[in-house]
Amino acid sequence: MSEDIVLVIGARGQLGSVLIKELQKIYGITNVIASDIYLDHNFEGVFELLDATDITSIRTIIKKYSVTQIYHLAAILSAKGEQHPLKTWELNIKMMLNVFEVSINSTVNKVFFPSSIAVYGTKAPLQNSPQSAFLNPATVYGISKAAGENWAQYYFNKYDLDIRSIRYPGVIGYQSMPGGGTTDYAVDIYHSAVKRENYKCFLKADTKLPMVFMEDAIRATIELMQTPKENIKTRTSYNLGSMSLNPSEIYEAIKKQYPSFEIEYQPDFRQVIADNWPKSIDDKEARNDWGWEPKFNLKSMTIVMLEKLEEKYNKIN
Ligand code: SER
Repeated sequence: MSEDIVLVIGARGQLGSVLIKELQKIYGITNVIASDIYLDHNFEGVFELLDATDITSIRTIIKKYSVTQIYHLAAILSAKGEQHPLKTWELNIKMMLNVFEVSINSTVNKVFFPSSIAVYGTKAPLQNSPQSAFLNPATVYGISKAAGENWAQYYFNKYDLDIRSIRYPGVIGYQSMPGGGTTDYAVDIYHSAVKRENYKCFLKADTKLPMVFMEDAIRATIELMQTPKENIKTRTSYNLGSMSLNPSEIYEAIKKQYPSFEIEYQPDFRQVIADNWPKSIDDKEARNDWGWEPKFNLKSMTIVMLEKLEEKYNKIN
């Protein structure tokens, strides 16, 4: 059996930077190629500077390392995307199609493409949203992900390209910062608490959104990629349920350990985005097809978040 060589595009992002470490453990440090548009001088492992809008550069890296798997994580997220709608569409779609296109007739045999709860809109049931609901996303990010899901299915049907995808909820982790998303508050709030700062929340107190702890999100991604091909029944994207949280619930969980922590609610344009997204997710397909099961809840996640961030900010040597 030949060795897997894994390329991660967007390796410096919130998910990519954590995923890389897990992949290095599984495939070995020299078999994981991290790539991003910005250099990482402190990176431990193989790193390639890559602009994924340039198809030739991706092809060059695939050939250079005989890449067998690609995790394509680079994208402009929901909130930032609304500041530059056309640029967001152009970038997200171009990078994705480049990755799919270079993968056919190449050494690549598996591709991971992340989708998002942002594919939903008001025409879907927003409680326990079913996987195959009508999708009318309101953000350009959501539109690009919904289109991406259909392109993934198209490449699978037409070229038998084994693309797998998860609709991520908001991802909460201590290792990295999200950038430009609507669910970012759920990470920022923990940082503020540990830095002994009060938090100004850009969503209303009762805005429920689906969330997942980073450990669970990474495990889900790897488990999906390791599932035998014949078990993958969904070729658009799998719903991934875990927690369903609002800012006030996260705040209360933190306050139990940080009694003087205060929050203020100042909803901005991101409130409208959040109001169009699911409150909770029905993920029975992921559970049935590849055995998905989350491990963390608000309480266990909060313990780890606060402990790790304390180490980061307040560790006395
Ligand atoms: N976390 C993402 C965002 O807020 C959702 O995919 O944009």
